[in-house]
Amino acid sequence: MTTEITITRPDDWHLHVRDGAALQAVVPHTAAQFGRAIIMPNLKPPVTTAAQALAYRDRIRAAVPAGMNFEPLMTLYLTDNLPADEIARARDAGVVACKLYPAGATTNSDAGVTDLRKTYKTLEAMQRAGLLLLVHGEVTSPDIDLFDREAVFIEQQLIPLRRDFPELKIVFEHITTREAAQYVRDADRFTGATVTAHHLLYNRNAIFTGGIRPHYYCLPVLKRETHRLALVEAATGGNPRFFLGTDSAPHPAHLKEHASGCAGCYTAHAALELYAEAFDAAGALDKLEGFASFHGADFYGLPRNSGTVTLRRESWNAPEQFAFGDAQLKPLRGGEPLLWRLA
Ligand code: NCD
Ligand code: ZN
Ligand code: ZN
Repeated sequence: MTTEITITRPDDWHLHVRDGAALQAVVPHTAAQFGRAIIMPNLKPPVTTAAQALAYRDRIRAAVPAGMNFEPLMTLYLTDNLPADEIARARDAGVVACKLYPAGATTNSDAGVTDLRKTYKTLEAMQRAGLLLLVHGEVTSPDIDLFDREAVFIEQQLIPLRRDFPELKIVFEHITTREAAQYVRDADRFTGATVTAHHLLYNRNAIFTGGIRPHYYCLPVLKRETHRLALVEAATGGNPRFFLGTDSAPHPAHLKEHASGCAGCYTAHAALELYAEAFDAAGALDKLEGFASFHGADFYGLPRNSGTVTLRRESWNAPEQFAFGDAQLKPLRGGEPLLWRLA
């Protein structure tokens, strides 16, 4: 039995760090594990200009503990009116991608896109400038069943988008279904996907076992076991277009344990440990390094990290909660045993 694994320092290709005191609380967790992370722009108000992205990057860098090397990779929030000429400014500022949130699909998506057609000039500019498009892939029509929103998004939005912008690099973020895994597997080199640790480890039963468990609620929501198995197969199969993106999404505990609880699972405190558990359970620890440390960098056209991290098979209990400004943050699996530990 493998008891220790050393891999090239990984990156997190989908991360929420919020702002202010919340940001101070969570950035050290990610900086302790990852070399870089793609920072989601769904602040209130959203990050929609190169100047805002640069200022946000400075605040994140300032929250990295001394002695740690961590580089935030910035994104802009695509809206119906993000001007096409902002894209060149964004590229010059080092912004690597824009994020598509269909309006109303998830946390802080009110400013999101109401009709993809409205963004076509901007998408053309992105394709020219080499910026990636990161997609929260769910339709929002109330008549579509919540559990079908991702699969319907592929048919209604992604296939036409892919056809209209054949050389725009698109990342289908936090995929949760067999349909999404198949779509990405069958696509060309311009289409990739991130997979979270929680979607590899849990199916939708986790939200309801023994009572409603708000800390397992995220969007896209956990799906059936057949979908989880398809995600495990995709992530552990060695295909370079699937890579690590935690979607660690911190919310104050009292707003998750609420009549209308927020969507998002916090996993940054033990991200690699959770992925190692999922890969180990699939007998695929040897595939973790590609997924966590190579595929994302290669897809984005960025250099791979130097340096390594080591994970040991060792049972330990993650803290039940962390301070989060004036509130508390309850991590996934908090207070429960984890099977791997970062050395
Ligand atoms: C994310 C958040 O809280 O910002 N929530 C989530 O459930 N995943 C938004 C997102 O990535 O959709
Ligand atoms: Zn999302
Ligand atoms: Zn997210």
